[in-house]
Amino acid sequence: MEKIVIEGGHRLQGQLPISGAKNSALPLMCAGLLTRGGLTLHNLPHLADIKTLANLLCELGSVINYSEEGWDIGSGQTANIVTDSISSTTAPYEMVRKMRASILVLGPLLAREGEAIVSLPGGCAIGNRPIDLHLKAFEDIGAVVELKDGYVRASGKLTGGIVHFPTVSVGATENILMAACLADGTTVIENAAQEPEISDLAHCLLAMGAKISGIGSSRLEVIGVPELHGAEYTVMPDRIEAGSYAIAAAMTGGELELIGQKLPLVMTGTLGILEQAGIKFTETDHGLITHLDSDNIIGINAVTQPYPGFPTDMQAQLMAMMTLCDGASVITETIFENRFMHVPELCRMGADITVNGATATVRGIKRLLGAPVMATDLRASMSLVLAGLAAEGTTEVNRIYHLDRGYERLVQKLSSCGAKISRQKADGI
Ligand code: EPZ
Repeated sequence: MEKIVIEGGHRLQGQLPISGAKNSALPLMCAGLLTRGGLTLHNLPHLADIKTLANLLCELGSVINYSEEGWDIGSGQTANIVTDSISSTTAPYEMVRKMRASILVLGPLLAREGEAIVSLPGGCAIGNRPIDLHLKAFEDIGAVVELKDGYVRASGKLTGGIVHFPTVSVGATENILMAACLADGTTVIENAAQEPEISDLAHCLLAMGAKISGIGSSRLEVIGVPELHGAEYTVMPDRIEAGSYAIAAAMTGGELELIGQKLPLVMTGTLGILEQAGIKFTETDHGLITHLDSDNIIGINAVTQPYPGFPTDMQAQLMAMMTLCDGASVITETIFENRFMHVPELCRMGADITVNGATATVRGIKRLLGAPVMATDLRASMSLVLAGLAAEGTTEVNRIYHLDRGYERLVQKLSSCGAKISRQKADGI
């Protein structure tokens, strides 16, 4: 086990490259199952979740070759995913439980082979995260879905149909979108998620020959085609990573140029809230310059919402910033039922936060104090890193395997911009 040790109080300054988006790369990789033609993905981030999913795809019959793209901090890798044939339609529990997004192989397997046997992913730290919306959607387009021994078995010829999501689901939208591309008919998806990662997936599917309209809206229409051909596609930049580092610059009183194409476009929903808190963004040819424009961090109220609202994946990071605000802030989490696990750890660093149900009230304090803290989930762990960068003294963040799932080369990126941060062996935690 390793920990991250941060000596706080150092201003961040310089250029910080933003990696390819984890939450786009994962569904894009699953799209590689839809074609025997070979899908080449550029700007894939070097993350634990990407490795985990690649192992699963190989179990199912994909052959994946990698090449580096001018290896420096932030530049991704290229993966060529060739799935000549599917050797297994089963995604086993021991693989799915490690990474919930593995459920995204269900739609492609069902569409390509007429069958998919995928372990129920189970819950995770932030909530029980059911997949009922995924399963109902597959039934809406012709599949027969059975649950047995902790596995979902979906089978049948996909005919297309009308899918109406009662609540917005990113994963369910992605799963049904991929399956609908090969259905024998037209599928309409109503109340579809509109996150930029959905549009990234849709544009990649278009490049593979899919027929999709309404991209970027809550209503997608897919005309099924007999097969999809190979394609080459570049993963969009990670808007959550970018928002996290913008907060790092603000909390340390520094200035960063976040390097990534299309960043302003994909950061809708985040930029607005961070600008309300006093952060200024200036577009450059390479991305965005970001720094705290006001003398203090402005206390704001934020409610997490599906895109284009304020993203739940930025909630923990915003809360870290609000611990130092001038005044107070009220943050409401509407997407997941247990996404405040960073609160007790931030309070160990002196933060003044009270939680009442889905709402946290943060009263600004003058300074955070470094302390040993425990990461509990991906975004909570980033929240603790941000607090450590701003705190007086030394902070140790334990269980950083959570961080490695979603932040590529975090220590190198922050060190190169002036942070005093290192990975060390954890003492027995
Ligand atoms: C995706 O998860 C992201 N993961 C999450 O990012 C992100 O927080 C979430 O979307 C919301 O934006 C990936 O893209 C790999 P949902 P997903 O289906 O698809 C409920 C991170 O930190 N729901 O939009 O699982 C669900 O319980 C991760 O990078 C059902 O009830 O999220 C939740 O309350 C964390 N039934 C809400 O909908 C279902 O069948 C939104 O979930 C599916 C979801």
